[in-house]
Order: sequence, then C-alpha cells, then structure tokens
Amino acid sequence: MSSVDRARTVKREVRSQLLRWFDQHQRALPWRQTKDPYGVWVSEVMLQQTQVDRVVRYWTKFLARFPTVRSLADAELADVLSMWTGLGYYSRARNLHRAAQEVVAKFEAELPDSVDALLTLPGFGRYTAGAVASIAFELEAPLVDGNVARVFSRLLELDGAPGDRKRESALWEIAELLVTGPRPGDWNQSLMELGATVCVPQNPLCLLCPVRTSCSALASGRVDELPPPKKAAKRKRLEFAVAVAQRGDLVLLARREEKGLFGGLWELPAAPLDPGADADAALTTLLGARAVIGPELTVLERTLTHRDLFLRLHPVKVGVKLGKPPAGYLEWRWVPSAERPSLGMSSAMQSAIAEGVGEG
Ligand code: ADE
Repeated sequence: MSSVDRARTVKREVRSQLLRWFDQHQRALPWRQTKDPYGVWVSEVMLQQTQVDRVVRYWTKFLARFPTVRSLADAELADVLSMWTGLGYYSRARNLHRAAQEVVAKFEAELPDSVDALLTLPGFGRYTAGAVASIAFELEAPLVDGNVARVFSRLLELDGAPGDRKRESALWEIAELLVTGPRPGDWNQSLMELGATVCVPQNPLCLLCPVRTSCSALASGRVDELPPPKKAAKRKRLEFAVAVAQRGDLVLLARREEKGLFGGLWELPAAPLDPGADADAALTTLLGARAVIGPELTVLERTLTHRDLFLRLHPVKVGVKLGKPPAGYLEWRWVPSAERPSLGMSSAMQSAIAEGVGEG
C-alpha cells in the first residue's frame, strides 16, 4: 500500500486522536489566544526559522510595537529590522514589511482569506499561505513543514530523504487529503505540535504518542530510520574586512542596500573578501584612497545556518566629513553609542561593535 493510501485508511481515527490530544496538551502560546490574521501571520513567519521559546518574546514585542497591518505598513523598514535584531533571516522582515504595504494598498488593510490571494504577497510560500488560511480563516488549506514531514514519514512509512521531489509531492498530497474535515487550523497545528514535542527527531516519545496505534513505522520497527537524514548542504565560507572607524563616542555605521543576506541592516562598513585576499586593499577600495587602514584587531567567527561567517576587524581613520556612501550601502553616518541599540543590526555586527569599538 502507498503512503497516500495509508493516509486514506487511517484518516478518521488519526484525526480524532490527534485533535483530542491537541485540546489537552497543546502549549499555551500567545498567538493561540488570537484569531487576528495579522498576529497569526507574524507568528508563522517568525516560527519558520526560529525556535518557539525565542519567538514568544519577539512576537509579543513586535505586536506591541506594530499592532496592526497598517501600523506595520506605515513603519520605517529600519524600525522593523530593529525589532527583528537577533531573529536572523532578515529577508523575512523585509518581506513582511513589503507585504503589509501591499495588503493596505490592494486589500484594504485586511489579509485576504484565500490561499491564492495570500500567495501573491511577498514572503508567502505554500507553507505560510496554508498556515494563515487554515489557522486564521479556518480554510481547509494544507501545510507541510519539517515537523509535519517527519510525522507523516513515520506515521505512513513514507520513504525518501528530505528534499527528494517525489517525497515532497507525496507529503503535500497527504497534507491535502488529511486537512479536509472539521477544525483544519487546529489539525495543522496539532501535527506541528506533535512533531515539536513528541515525534521529535531523536528519541521520539512513542509511548506518549496519541497516534501510536496507527503508526506504520512503529509497527514495523522503523521509527529510528524515518525520515532518513538530509544530505548536508555544503557550508559556505563568508569573509568580510570590517572597518572600525571611531571619533570619541561616535562610530561610523552604514546601512546596506535592501537585498541580500544582511540587506537593509546597519553595520560597520564591510567589504567582502575572497579567501586569502588582502583586507587592507579591500577596505581601501571600499572607503577610498584617503582612508588609513590599521592592522587586524581581531577575527570574529559566527556560525549561521548555512554559512560560516568571518569578520576581520581593522581600525580605520577616515575624514570626519563623509562623501557618498560606499558601494553596496544606501547611507552612512557617525552614530553616537546611545543611538546604536535602536538601529536594526545583525547579532554578528553587534558583537563586532562590542569587540572592536573602544570606550571612545
Ligand atoms: N510551528 C510553526 N507554526 C506552528 C504552530 N502554529 N503551532 C505549532 N508549531 C508551529
């Protein structure tokens, strides 16, 4: 029997077992107290690449600062990014901001209640559209994330490694088949909840699982081998020469163009380096021939999800009067220490400033 056929067979019992379990055991998460589509949307965007505990803190602050779609649309991108500092994947914040502006312009400031319309908005893929449609609007819209994929793989003995095309399409077919029925939003959340708390990657708690009597992998002793591990993507090495220019309490900061890894964020001016390339030359190209580049202060290493980041910090002397911002940046200026916490910055750059900038 195929996994899709198995899903058809166990649908009734699994749906009722899992929903009953969700009613009793779901975690009390702040966005579950609201049916406001905007709040649900923000939570789902944050949850995509960030752990629940951390999202709880950020979500509450974000909604206090930007309580409505309109308030988010009217905000400066820099302020939105500043609320995102530490969450990572800053393109999520840029897309959220752009999408809010589109919702105001095209949908009278209300998120549209259809998957197709949601999919037209920046940052909405199948997952986010399915989550918002089902949780906020109670539509029978499927979703698959890593947790759901693991639950389906085991429950229905679906083979194939993460990323495998045939497996992906089977997963979505199964999600679509199972979501039809009462409480589609709770159904989707109960799957994610089970994956997050019981059907976890290592040492799953099968004895506590509400659907263990229906689980194919448990019956055949294959829980530990499903799903097979993802082929590790090759990590990229990212290296920058970073300019630490200081005048008393002032530090020279620049804001990146609104694209790419750290797009729209403030940082110490930085030039990408090929491995082994000369940082001095790269900083001179970035800042102009009159800049005086000092010897390397320190190298800061950070592990991002798919990249190893190396920041080579150099003290730099530049004239007080700044010309046009360097290539790749929208603006630059001398910023006093008191103002720095309110600028949107990556955690890596915050550490670089903490390490590289003296007391003035
Ligand atoms: N992960 C992402 N969204 C979730 C949700 N709504 N409930 C549980 N886990 C999630």
